[in-house]
Amino acid sequence: MIEQTLSIIKPDAVERNLETDIKEYFIKNKLKILKAKKVKISKEEASEFYRVHQTKPFYEDLCSYLSSGPIVVMVLEGENAILKNREVMGATDPMKAEEGTLRKMYGISIDKNSVHGSDSKENATTEINFFFK
Ligand code: CMP
Repeated sequence: MIEQTLSIIKPDAVERNLETDIKEYFIKNKLKILKAKKVKISKEEASEFYRVHQTKPFYEDLCSYLSSGPIVVMVLEGENAILKNREVMGATDPMKAEEGTLRKMYGISIDKNSVHGSDSKENATTEINFFFK
């Protein structure tokens, strides 16, 4: 099934000029970049975006971090794009991510893990609408 999912290149990766390398890696892995823009969001917007995590102990730091610098938000499209993107990204914690995944290649820590991707069809719709409506 052809799906769309939201991907974010996080501040740590934008800061290290990894935008082009990461985009090329998605394309190489059959995830087409339908839309992309570089934005800087406020802490309030980050809090809204990550509201599913609002009860987590790391929520505050997560929202401060996502709003700390420019990010690149993208709509990726492809066969089973939601799962495919999660495979290409690898485990949330770069220390646990498999070889050949973006987080293994570029992630610094569980917070600075370089990329975000929607984790379900429902969240993909919500997250795409958040940035591209
Ligand atoms: P992301 O896929 O953007 O979704 C939520 C983010 O919270 C996650 O990547 C991590 O960067 C961050 N995070 C920080 N601490 C944790 C943790 N203990 N478990 C899961 N995610 C965490």
